Amino acid sequence: MSNTATLATLSGSDLAADPNWWRQAAVYQIYPRSFSDSNGDGLGDIKGITAKVPYLKDLGIDAVWLSPFYPSALADGGYDVDDYRDVDPKLGTLADFDEMSAALHAAGIKLIADIVPNHSSDRHVWFQEALASPRGSDARERYIFRDGKGEHGEIPPSDWESVFGGPAWERITEPDGTPGQWYMHIFAKEQPDLNWSNREIRDDFLKTLRFWSDRGVDGFRVDVAHALTKDLTEPLLSRLELGGTSDGADGFDDGSHPFWDRDEVHEIYVEWREVFNEYTPPRTAVAEAWVHASRRARYASPAGLGQAFNFDLLQADFAADEFREIITRNLAEATESGASSTWVFSNHDVVRHATRYGLPQGGGRHAKGQDGKGWLLAGAPAEDLDVELGLRRARAATLLMLALPGSAYLYQGEELGLQEVGDIPDAERQDPTFFRNKGVEIGRDGCRVPLPWATDGTSFGFGDGGAHLPQPAWFGRYAVTAQDGTEGSTLEFYRKALKLRRELQTSEELEWLETGHAGVLHFRRHGGWQSVTNFGHDAVELPAGEVLTSSGPLDGRLLPGNTTVWLR
Ligand code: NOJ
Repeated sequence: MSNTATLATLSGSDLAADPNWWRQAAVYQIYPRSFSDSNGDGLGDIKGITAKVPYLKDLGIDAVWLSPFYPSALADGGYDVDDYRDVDPKLGTLADFDEMSAALHAAGIKLIADIVPNHSSDRHVWFQEALASPRGSDARERYIFRDGKGEHGEIPPSDWESVFGGPAWERITEPDGTPGQWYMHIFAKEQPDLNWSNREIRDDFLKTLRFWSDRGVDGFRVDVAHALTKDLTEPLLSRLELGGTSDGADGFDDGSHPFWDRDEVHEIYVEWREVFNEYTPPRTAVAEAWVHASRRARYASPAGLGQAFNFDLLQADFAADEFREIITRNLAEATESGASSTWVFSNHDVVRHATRYGLPQGGGRHAKGQDGKGWLLAGAPAEDLDVELGLRRARAATLLMLALPGSAYLYQGEELGLQEVGDIPDAERQDPTFFRNKGVEIGRDGCRVPLPWATDGTSFGFGDGGAHLPQPAWFGRYAVTAQDGTEGSTLEFYRKALKLRRELQTSEELEWLETGHAGVLHFRRHGGWQSVTNFGHDAVELPAGEVLTSSGPLDGRLLPGNTTVWLR
């Protein structure tokens, strides 16, 4: 399936109505609490985003994805939602939200909201009601409560671990004051898992999807889309029987895990799709589903969510063979599912790619923790970091990504070439990962530090007050004002590439061209647009063609190492 009209040929209102707008969109992720603070309380807010709409328009993105902005105690950066149909008063009001949505739409930018269906917060009225109600009550049936094992129910129902470390079960005190049942939480204990076999939960989320769609939300990013349905028939398998870990679905390719990636989860998304299709253009969705690659297409089905994140490039080393294999496989999968592919290098959960690529051997995997999966949460050891190389490779990788068919997801600050902040003092850390792992994993705060808009001043222009996570002194060098209009800056590089992408992008085909160099990838898109990346260190000769842009300086007709160029 191809998107036949070029973005450049669609006028503003046509683009707004185009049901395929998402297929090749450049989507910019905003982590609202760290983007821009309008009232000086140290926390980014909705009005702060509205004020930056001109910046977003200049950047040239097609859509904004907002990480959660709902009322929350911030036990997990807002992924612990108290109320799915409101705005956190710390961030603004529903009226502010409407104003932001109107401003984005007036600038031709679509709005994607994060929705968090696997768990609520422990402050949600449902959970408070469950705590106040007896065993077996309807209120408890909205969550996953179990009696404990052992003589007095003092042992958790299973030995499963939460993704953030520590047990996946928490014991409650019953209304009469006695030690009571346990509830399941795949993430922090402040994030009790909802019971999706309960019709009331399903109906309530359909209401939430309509609530935001009616307010002009164009699409949804679905948090932990692969965990909603569970089979907790006793006896519960032990962690060992599940393959030694309970925090990932990657090893399961048959839907047999008790809570990750079960086949029944798609029944939910078929219902969601019916709601999406009530709107014109239909609302879109993208699944965050860390599943076995062979099962990702199910989430991207047009009868379901329609698109799924592919984190393969994000986990790959900066290496031509890995990139080529991943791109080829994902494009084939996308064709099979009818979706378009998605690409991403950075988000609010991982070490920024400008930093990952500056670590020894320059890859995603080398930023992994010792257990082999901590790459998601690991910090960056400053002494091993080559900042210049990291940025150079990050720009090369980004320019390659922006030439690929499909949607490109960008994370706030990467357009500034921002590095991970590796040295946040323990006392100022916020990520539950850090606390639940007793500091073994330092967590994800380093990519969530508030953006530098100005070279100096209070919180580098983030707001008039401080910043809720400490900004290092070197942040000023990356500020928007330092890069705006500066030739060769990372910001100007992103702006140019995004503008060209809009003009050049047509159908979703990609053709590989052979280069004769193992470390060089060269491909062509429809209309003669080409991208060439030199993953090696030594310069290679540029193929013929007019140079449109490059991720770093060229040496005449030579393409230096760690550099991408677009040609026509
Ligand atoms: C995935 C989100 O991206 C992450 O930030 C969050 O901690 C978990 N889901 C739990 O909601």
